Amino acid sequence: ADTKVYRASTTAPVNIAVVKYWGKRDAKLNLPTNSSLSVTLSQNDLRTLTTASCSSSYTGDDSLLLNGEPSDISGARTQACFRELRARRAALEAADDSLPKLSTFPLRIVSENNFPTAAGLASSAAGFAALVQAIANLYELPDSPSELSLIARQGSGSACRSLFGGYVAWRMGEKEDGSDSMADLVAPASHWPSMRALILVVSAAKKGVSSTSGMQQTVATSGLFKERIANVVPANMALMEDAIKNRNFPQFAEVTMRDSNSFHATCADTYPPIFYMNDVSKAAIRAVEAINAQAGKTVAAYTFDAGPNCVVYYQEEDAATVLGAFAPILATAEGWKAASAANNTVK
Ligand code: PMV
Repeated sequence: ADTKVYRASTTAPVNIAVVKYWGKRDAKLNLPTNSSLSVTLSQNDLRTLTTASCSSSYTGDDSLLLNGEPSDISGARTQACFRELRARRAALEAADDSLPKLSTFPLRIVSENNFPTAAGLASSAAGFAALVQAIANLYELPDSPSELSLIARQGSGSACRSLFGGYVAWRMGEKEDGSDSMADLVAPASHWPSMRALILVVSAAKKGVSSTSGMQQTVATSGLFKERIANVVPANMALMEDAIKNRNFPQFAEVTMRDSNSFHATCADTYPPIFYMNDVSKAAIRAVEAINAQAGKTVAAYTFDAGPNCVVYYQEEDAATVLGAFAPILATAEGWKAASAANNTVK
């Protein structure tokens, strides 16, 4: 009998949205209320490395080791990813009898983040993207990154965007079964090679309200949210795609900052309100404004996800200005972690 261990590895980087996904129209399938757009960071910086293996010699159930610890994979989202990938492999095996029946073997997944999971940085995007890509590689699936993004989306919405490097849109789609809610490449990283991201770890505390429950509360109770999805996001998506196409940093930056502000405003508009940013986050906003005022043009853009940590986008030619301005703050201010600030290049 074939007792060989089949194995494949991959890495997937973190992505940071510049037009935010916030709101689900279908919580089971992770279908969003709006399209979103992100920048994928470099593989060398914040990423998940995942190895998937399977063998007829493996006993027990599927398993996942995350940063050396056994991790619960019984959740519906993780199970959906395993199920979809197995079904695709099983279809290949049904069509070609010479293929080993990998779809019937237990899976063992080993995953490592090269950044602290406890630091409050979104790790689910890179995690689910790497999980899906590693198993797809193991199963030798012919599916394109956009097709795989349909599966990663079911693990964590934002994960669908980490299947691509560079500038990536997640189109919300219209269909009820989610078959058109997938990611596509707006531009590769090479289109705008000077783009950089500075990650400021403001607080190592875990986020107070999970993205799933924060979204649910926002959709249910915020009036401002209706305006955001009807008008603000569609306008921001168009402006952002245009800014990227033309490598127009001031436009990229303004839309990034406005969209982050809009997203956090809808959170503050829920009842009871949700606050992800703290006083140190707000100081980062003021610091970016001061940098831009001093430069006499827009050279830096802040954005915040569902937590207090700040990501600052800038271009390499402005590195001295931007990093120089943050250096004294990083060195002195309480709440800032100089050691965790990384200069990330986009993939
Ligand atoms: O993919 P989730 O469920 O972790 O949600 C991510 C939500 C934001 O990070 C706030 C925005 C985004 O588009 O990534």
